[in-house]
Amino acid sequence: MTIPFIDLQAQYQVLQPQIQERINRVLEHGQYIMGPEVLELEVKLATFTGSKHCISVASGTEALLISLMALGIKPGDEIITTPFTFVATAEVIVLLGAKPVFVDVEPDTCNIDARLIEAKITPRTKAIMPVSLYGQPADMDEINAVAARYGDIPVIEDAAQSFGSTYRDKKSCNLSTVGCTSFFPSKPLGCYGDGGAIFTNDDALAKAMREIRVHGQSQRYVHTRVGVGGRMDTLQCAIVLAKLERFDWEIERRLEIGARYNELCDEAGIERVVQRSDRTSVFAQYTVRVNHRESIQEKLKSFNIPTAVHYPVPLNLQPAYLHLCCPDCTPIAGNLAERVMSVPMSADLSVADQAHIVNAVKGLL
Ligand SMILES: Cc1ncc(COP(=O)(O)O)c(C=O)c1O
Repeated sequence: MTIPFIDLQAQYQVLQPQIQERINRVLEHGQYIMGPEVLELEVKLATFTGSKHCISVASGTEALLISLMALGIKPGDEIITTPFTFVATAEVIVLLGAKPVFVDVEPDTCNIDARLIEAKITPRTKAIMPVSLYGQPADMDEINAVAARYGDIPVIEDAAQSFGSTYRDKKSCNLSTVGCTSFFPSKPLGCYGDGGAIFTNDDALAKAMREIRVHGQSQRYVHTRVGVGGRMDTLQCAIVLAKLERFDWEIERRLEIGARYNELCDEAGIERVVQRSDRTSVFAQYTVRVNHRESIQEKLKSFNIPTAVHYPVPLNLQPAYLHLCCPDCTPIAGNLAERVMSVPMSADLSVADQAHIVNAVKGLL
């Protein structure tokens, strides 16, 4: 039997009564857009992260776009970010006519290398957008410190993969000016469609984000600014509310499973992504580094072990972004893109399946 890459079925089986009850409640009250579950979720998520404001939005991509719009990003502005991420991180910058300035990553964590950021700051730098990749926060204090030295440049954490992780006792999404996450079904906290959320402690930014989310509307049919159709629908909020009930338990399990994977990989001599001691990862992906990746993936597939690559090409080498950066200016991201491979990971992964996966990889090295 194939080991699921992410086991959403096992989670659904456990949470089925709560999920069904939540869905039925929405069907009964019929407020599919901005129903009571939207505010209920925002209050619970703000409490969870310790942030003053949570603004639910249509997706993680929309969370990033609305954040940049609220910060007033305009054509010609530069945003410092990592090329080793999902395309949405850079896409929203380019959509606003701004320029992503790519900074290379750390070879062990795969997160942006905070020490390289300062050299890329110019008078046009209007934000820094680190990504907390694979579920582990980037070096947020170091990044905030660089931003502070240059006149408090806003820092947006792309926490699409890291909701629920911690950094020096604070929660991801509440580590900088703005935190953005995604509830894409495969994320650590996922819904059954698209969804996302923005977190901030800044009242003015939160107000702007709430308006931009609804077509820039400050009152009904008063469009104070240009916005988007960026709401998260009530049904998706209801599903996240049901899943929140088990989320703390799931985080504990993810920590345990991640630690066991680390041990098994270290014993087997498999190179893996490293976690720093001052933060936790929610292991949105468990990622190792191998040579001859394609043939290993094929053989693992024949053993019913699915794998995935996050990400095969750094964004500065993608056709649509090639003109924005010299092709070889982020060599570490380039090397990682050729070698990273993610293996099955979810809160319900069994000890036996984990050992089987690691043994299979070891046998192929
Ligand atoms: C790092 C990162 N940023 C942004 C996104 C976009 O999130 P969504 O798919 O909810 O739009 C993702 C989702 O895969 C992601 O992994």
